This record gives sequence, structure tokens and C-alpha cells, in this order.
Amino acid sequence: MRLTSYAHGGGCACKIPPGELEEVVRGLVGLSSPDLLVGLDDGDDAAVYRVDDRTAIVATADFFTPVVDDAYDWGRIAAANALSDVYAMGGRPVLAVNLVGWPRDVLPKALLTEVLRGGLDVAREAGCHVAGGHSIDDPEPKYGMAVTGLADPDRLLRNDSGTAGLPLTLTKPLGVGVLNNRHKSTGEVFPQAVANMVALNKDASERALAAGAKAATDVTGFGLLGHLYKLARASGVTAVLDAGAVPYLDGAREALRDGYVSGGTRRNLEWVAPHLLSRVDDDELLLLADAQTSGGLLVVGEVPGYPVIGHLEPRGSSVLQVR
Ligand code: CO
Ligand code: CO
Repeated sequence: MRLTSYAHGGGCACKIPPGELEEVVRGLVGLSSPDLLVGLDDGDDAAVYRVDDRTAIVATADFFTPVVDDAYDWGRIAAANALSDVYAMGGRPVLAVNLVGWPRDVLPKALLTEVLRGGLDVAREAGCHVAGGHSIDDPEPKYGMAVTGLADPDRLLRNDSGTAGLPLTLTKPLGVGVLNNRHKSTGEVFPQAVANMVALNKDASERALAAGAKAATDVTGFGLLGHLYKLARASGVTAVLDAGAVPYLDGAREALRDGYVSGGTRRNLEWVAPHLLSRVDDDELLLLADAQTSGGLLVVGEVPGYPVIGHLEPRGSSVLQVR
């Protein structure tokens, strides 16, 4: 019995495509308030509400279908991914509730316990409480969390605050999309991909804030190119990516060569293509658009200990450039 065989798509690659989603929510306007510091406008990682001058609440939810066959690992990955959007705003997660869909007639309940145990362990590492949640009977297993965090309202990592002239830093290597896709179809296990996905973005977020960064986002289902495009578009700048400086997990290039590219990754590339000026070949672009699950932070500014992969320039003829 393989958990990934119950998933029609894997991880953040099963997201509704970015262009489609923007169309769906266009024109839907909620209450407005100066205390809603980050709303839906620029598609940031989480919503942020100011309680007082020193405290803001960061709210987000994230869940998906199995990305790996190991139940405990899937739980850890889904939790690290859900917590990541709080870190991507410069917050610290304090409270989470579980979101579960489970085919109770098909899969053993003991396996669900393993999923939840994985989530709990990662939340504990983050210093975040897990208390209850919601579960439904669902033919396709799904797991994730709704997470609430706290942040300093004057020190947020927004996706619309990127400034021309600053470098871009990436805090995790890419490639989990093609490796997960290969795992789903062959059953080969990639410990380097699992380690990459369960790693919290806590340290990256704290170092980014300490370095004075004002803009960041996490790299998930829309891939590096998709998330960088969103950040550059919202910030009114052009992002220049140095393809040779982007780090990849071992086995990622081989998985690309062997054809394990997800539909989500192809859609990511199609979405940014009209705004992209590229000097690299299509294979390289597919790797850069690889749909990540629980990816790293993309930070505007230098963050000690992590590689610089490009920079921001004043807005030119294209929103994205890859050299
Ligand atoms: Co995000
Ligand atoms: Co998210």
C-alpha cells in the first residue's frame, strides 16, 4: 500500500494554477481596515492583522495530498510547509490546528496517527502548540494545518517591499518537485528531498530579519520562477536571476532528464513565460519553475549562510530575467 498512489497530484504541485486562482478571486472584496496590514491584494504568504503597535497576528492555512509514501514523513512535511508561510511573513508560529481528509474505509487509522505524530513533532520543534482541528471522510487523503503566528507589525517580510539594487537570497536548494514525482511513480526514496522538506524556515526567517530584510516569500507550488515573478510584480521591479548560482538537490537534474516533470511545473513556466526574458535553455527553465513542497525562503537582501542567486533592478521591459 503506497500513500502517494491515493493522490491525484503531489504536494504544492496539486495547487490550483496561479492564473486560474487570480481569476476566481478577482472582484471579491472583504472588509477593509488600516489594521489589515496584509490582505489578498498581492497574494502574499499569509494574512496579517495589527492588534496594537507591537503585535500583529499572522494567519495561514495549507494542506495537500501525500507527497511521500511514509506517513510520518508526510505529516512532518505538511506541517513544515504550513508553518513556513508564517516564517515567510517574519512571524513566529504560536498555535496550529490540524486539517485532515481521510478515507476511513480504505486506509488504517493507525496510519493517520503516524501522519498527525509527524505534524506534532515538527510543530514542537517550531515551538508551536497543536490543539485540535477538523477532519472529514475523504476518498483522497489530505493533511495540513491552519497556523496562527505573531509578528512585529513594523518588521514584516512582505512580497511587495522588494527594492531595486538589492540581492536575492534562496535558503533551500530546489528540486523536490521532480524528485517527489519520481518517488510517486517508481517508489525510489530520496532522503535528501525529505530532509529538505521537513526543515523549518525558522532560522532563515530570523536571520533575514536580523539582516534587516523587508521582503521575502517562501518557494512552494508556483516554483522559484512563479514566486519570484509574484514578488517582482508586487514590488514594481525587475528580478534578475543568475541561473548558475541556484542550488539543486542531488538527483534533481537526473530526474528532469528522465522526464519526471509535473504538470504543475509546466503550468508555472507557461504562467511566467510572457513576462520572462531568458538566456538559458528550456530544461534549465523547467528546473527553475519546479513546483516545490515546503521550499525555502526567497529573501530580498543578503542573509548570512545562504547563497545569493540574483538581484532586483528598476522595472525594465520584462518582470523576470534569467541569465
Ligand atoms: Co507561501
Ligand atoms: Co502557502
